[in-house]
Formats: sequence, structure tokens, C-alpha cells
Amino acid sequence: MAAPRLFPTHSAGKEPARYYSLARYALLDALRLSGVGQGRRVLLPSFICRDLLAPIAMLGATPCWYEVTAGLTAAGSPDTWPEADAVLAVNYFGFPQDLSPFVDYATRTGAGIVEDNAHGYLSRDTKGRWLGTRTPLGLFSLRKTLRIPDGAALLVNDDTLLIGLPEQLPFAGSGVNPAQALKASLRRIPLIGSGLLRIATVLARAVRKQKTGSEIPFSDPLSETQILSSPNPWAGLGKALTHCDGAAEIARRREAYSRCALEGERCGVAPVFSTLPDYCAPYGYPFRSSLSGRAAMQRLADRMGFDLVTWPDLPEAVRTKAPEYYHNVYLINFLW
Ligand SMILES: Cc1ncc(COP(=O)(O)O)c(C=O)c1O
Repeated sequence: MAAPRLFPTHSAGKEPARYYSLARYALLDALRLSGVGQGRRVLLPSFICRDLLAPIAMLGATPCWYEVTAGLTAAGSPDTWPEADAVLAVNYFGFPQDLSPFVDYATRTGAGIVEDNAHGYLSRDTKGRWLGTRTPLGLFSLRKTLRIPDGAALLVNDDTLLIGLPEQLPFAGSGVNPAQALKASLRRIPLIGSGLLRIATVLARAVRKQKTGSEIPFSDPLSETQILSSPNPWAGLGKALTHCDGAAEIARRREAYSRCALEGERCGVAPVFSTLPDYCAPYGYPFRSSLSGRAAMQRLADRMGFDLVTWPDLPEAVRTKAPEYYHNVYLINFLW
């Protein structure tokens, strides 16, 4: 199958995008292209999902950290950040990260900047630049924007790096999370689809609770060192990307955000971001709140047919030392 095109690109020759099952595999190749290997270091924000450590461990490299502010921008002067071979700039929840400290850091240290846009496929910054295209290497976790069994991409935005880019793996995966295909089919049933999806989700959680004692999957320490699924992208990924109506999806997400922001203000919860910037296609509505505010937002999420989750599952090395504001971020996830 021909590789789907993620964005129109500048590259005249080699296809600059590679597709994977998970963005962790995209990060693995991004780090290799940045010269990371045995004994090297990767600088990443301490407010991050523990899964992201696996590619670093698989390369025999070690993580080092910079902190983020309550507004999820990079904290402190980049002059004080530890030296590393690559640095990760994260567009949290699809909101554009300010890249200037990362550019300063890269100028000082020679580190490669990877724009982690796992949350922000279809999102742009206020200048209209697609997120994931603003630094030499950009990552996408497409499955976080489209309800598909898996899908991720690496975009090489610097032609000099194309030479080291491995060939595209066959689109032969069966899907890391095959249940998403069923859920998407349920959702498409006119009138009753979203109700059926809700029932399926409640049933799946009840079964998991019965089996494991918890409604949500347990946090697994192994996820910091290994990626257990195959890297090949799901066989249906190309079709899903081609069929996605980007403009409608962006509009739907912005409209959902405005509704959540209105209700959030009414129930006194604090949005993580004070405004929704122009062109931003948000992953969801991130907020901080007390338990009672959370309960009100859960009712809103139920009415809108969305999940409410806590984010992130912090790395072991960070969890106990992290500031309070790393522990109280909730997200109404707009996956449809
Ligand atoms: C900021 C960020 N980057 C990358 C990833 C990895 O994405 P994937 O689950 O597709 O490997 C995640 C996943 O949780 C994430 O939150």
C-alpha cells in the first residue's frame, strides 16, 4: 500500500513521513536520527507519560529532565538545563508549545529538537504552522485524534536527516487496540450509536474491574523499558487518514472545547490553558479541580459522550518528587 501523506511537504525526493503503530516507535527513530545511542542522554519534561521512557531505555540512553510550569511551558532558563543529545518539546493536549527556549538550548548544546506532537494532529500554532512541522523532527500519535486501533507518525522536516530514515514498515498490523474499530463502528450507527458506545464502555470497564479489581488499566513499570506491541502500523491507517475530514474534525474539537470551558467556569474548575488559541485543535479539555468539580465535569463528559481521565501516568523517577500541580490534571478526551 502506498504510504498516506500526512501533510504537504517541502521534500522533492524521499517521502518524509514514516508510520508506526505507536508514537513511541516514532520517537525511537527520531532519537536514532538525532544521534542518540548507548550512553547518550535525552532531555525531556518531567511532566510526561512513563511510556515515553521505553525508546530511551531501548537505545541504552538515559533520561534527564526539565520541569514545566503550571501552564505547561518549559520552566527555568534553558542555560541551566542539563546537557543532552536530544531534547523533547511537547505540545501538551494539542496546544502549541513555545519553542524559543528549546531553540536557545539547541544552539548552546547542539542537541536535536524533537517536537512531540502526539496530542496535536490537525493542530496549528497562532502563525498557522502545523504542529509537528516546526522542528527538524515531529511525532504524532494519530490514534489519539482519530478512533482507530493504532497509528502514529514521524515527520522529518529537515532534508539533511532524510538519508538516515529507515524504510516504511509494511502496513500489516492488526491494531494494538482492536476494540477501537468496533467502538468506531458503534458510534457510526445513526441516533443510537453514541448510547451504544457508552454502554459498551461501561460493560468493558465492569469486566476489567471483575478481572483486575480496577476499571482502568494498571500502570505498568515495564512500560518504562519495553514496547510490547509490534511497530507495524495498522492495515487500515492509510484509509482512515484519507477519509478524515480535517476541517470538520478541527471545528468539532474547538466547539467541544468551548462547551467544556463554559461549563468548567460554571462549576469553578480551573482550565490548564486560559484561552483556546486560534487554529488550535485541542486533544480535549484539560483542567484542574477539586473532587466535586471533577464530578460535575464527569457528568458533562457523560452527556457529551466523552471519557474523563487523569493525565499523565508519571515516570517512577518523577512521581514522588513532582509538585502538586503535576498530580491534579484531568482531561475530557474529545476522541469521537
Ligand atoms: C506526550 C506524549 N507523547 C508520546 C506519547 C506516546 O504515544 P503512543 O501511545 O502512541 O506511543 C504519549 C502517550 O501517552 C504522550 O502522551
